[in-house]
This record gives sequence, C-alpha cells and structure tokens, in this order.
Amino acid sequence: MRVLSGIQPTGRFHWGNYFGAIRQYIDLQHEHDGYYFIANLHALTTVRDKAMLQSLTRDAAIDLLALGLDPNKATLFVQSDVPEVSELCWILMTGTPMGLLERCHAFKDKQARGLAADAGLFTYPVLMAADILAYDANWVPVGQDQVQHIEVCRDLAGSFNHQYGKAFVLPEARLLGNAAKVPGLDGEKMSKSYNNTLGIFEDAKAVRKKIMRITTDSRPMEEPADPDKDNLFQLYRLVATTEELAAMDALYRRGGFGDGEVKKALADAAERYFESARQRRAELENNPAHVTEVLLAGAAKARATATTVLNRVKQACGLRTF
Ligand code: TYM
Repeated sequence: MRVLSGIQPTGRFHWGNYFGAIRQYIDLQHEHDGYYFIANLHALTTVRDKAMLQSLTRDAAIDLLALGLDPNKATLFVQSDVPEVSELCWILMTGTPMGLLERCHAFKDKQARGLAADAGLFTYPVLMAADILAYDANWVPVGQDQVQHIEVCRDLAGSFNHQYGKAFVLPEARLLGNAAKVPGLDGEKMSKSYNNTLGIFEDAKAVRKKIMRITTDSRPMEEPADPDKDNLFQLYRLVATTEELAAMDALYRRGGFGDGEVKKALADAAERYFESARQRRAELENNPAHVTEVLLAGAAKARATATTVLNRVKQACGLRTF
C-alpha cells in the first residue's frame, strides 16, 4: 500500500501528534511504501515569521527521524519542495464547491472565534487533497480531527474521476482506535491552539510540572475510580508498559490511592518512553548535513511520483494538447 501523511510545523510536536499519527507513520513504514512530509505550505497560513518557519521545519524533520522514521524505508520531505502539488491544488480547486469548504471545521472554527480567515485557510482542505492525491496514496494515517478533510479529498477525487475518467486513487483515513483523539491537560483534545499540550521533546522537568498541575475530580482517597473515565489514566495508558498498566488499572478499581501517585507514575513512564528518542535527537542535531541530505533525497523521489500523477491528470482534463 502507498501510505501518505503530513504534519504542520506550527509548533513543536506533542503527544497527540505522536500517538495519533507519527506512531502510525513509523509502524507502517516497514511493510508499506511510506511518504511523509512536513506541511510548511499549510503552516504558512499561521506562522508568518521567516526564521520561525525555517527552524520549526528543521525541528520537525529532526523530531520525526529521532522518533524512528527511517529514511531508508520511507520518503521524508518538505511539502513546498514538490511544486507539482500546488499545481494540482489549482486543478482541484476549479471543481471544488464553495459550500463544501464552508462546512470544513478549520475555517468554521476560526470564523466562529471572530478571527479573520484568509483564502489560504479557506482552501486549506483542497491543498490537503492535492497532497494526498499527488502520490496515489491508499492510506492516510491521521488523528480524528483530519477525517473530515480526507472525506473532502475523496469527494473531490470522486467528482473529478466522474467528470474525466478515472485519474485519481481514492484514499482511506487510518486511525488508531485508542489514540485518534488524545486528550490534553484539561481533558479536551490535545492541541497547540488550546494550550494544553505535553511536548514530546519538551524539557522533562517542565513536562513533570505540567502533569502535576493537571486538575482532576475530587475523590476521597479510599474510593475506587473508573480508569476509562479518567484523564490521567488515558494519558498513562499511552506511555506505560502492559504490566504497569494492569497494576494501575487494578489500583483504580480497588481505591486507596491519590492523584499525586498517578501523576508521578505518569511523569516517570513518559520520561522512560521518550528517553531513546531524546538521545537520537541530540545526535541528529549535531549532524545537520545528514538531515538536509535526507530531505533533498526525499523531495527528489516525491517529485518524481507527483510529476507522473500530475501528467496523468493534465492529460485527463484537457490541459495537454498532445
Ligand atoms: P496537524 O499538523 O494539525 O497534526 C498532525 C497529525 O497529528 C494528529 N493529531 C492528533 N491525533 C490524536 N489526538 C490529538 N490530540 C491530535 N492532535 C493532532 C492529526 O490528526 C494529524 O494526523 N492538515 C493536517 C496536515 C496535513 C495532512 C496532509 C495530513 C497537510 N496535508 C495530507 C494528512 C494528509 C494537519 O493540520 O495536521
């Protein structure tokens, strides 16, 4: 299968990004043909500072490699290094009903908050459709919040195929059942814009502090608790070993524990979970030439694939006269 996904360099990656999406990229790279990119064109709708965008893009590449993305197995590249995608975006845009975009949540949310939206944000799902369709992707590993965008992509591809004959492969979203919507510190979806994140490579002490400040329902210590309804437990589940999890589950059901104990266990498990990635990250930071090389090789390969698809599409809709 061709697997493709993108991630925006709008801030440093958090647990939601990792457990919802990045972990899937890494698992799928062994058996499948993975294309993963840093969505800097999408990020341009929010990050307007040149140096900031550059450094977040480099950090994103280093983070993905440190977390286990293997450039010998998967193709890692930067979105804007494949200009064919922007051309495809225009072609798709000519067949995109306005109403479809008006219903998309990224735009709707911003409008509801009274913020000025630009055409980039409004047409964001079309660029995302172009990202997916340009590589004939079958599977798109993402978190729950991206499912609507993949539906839009399928709609656009389906109507193009209907109009011009089968030019596009229809992709499917792939979600990890238990991590499609990782909760943040406040129990809402973990998100940069809600300011409720735990960073993957954030300073361990800062992460511990944030965990200790998580507010929970007050409960007498001796009373049991339902692990499935508890935010701390949902986070612990992501980083604990099977044995640790079984022990914690039993403790919840038995009662006789305080939240402080769970928070400490969570912070300890998180530190262990990301320890080796932290070490790899430090090594990669000292080897910027390697990171550049990976991104250039990835872009060359991705461009070759996107060019083939774009030619097929241009042929199909009459943009080619020969
Ligand atoms: P982005 O950058 O917001 O998020 C990257 C990935 O992380 C997932 N994610 C989560 N999963 C579970 N729980 C959470 N709390 C959580 N927060 C974030 C997202 O679902 C996503 O998979 N539009 C995309 C980037 C993109 C893209 C694409 C993705 C551009 N082109 C083509 C797939 C295919 C975005 O903004 O993701």
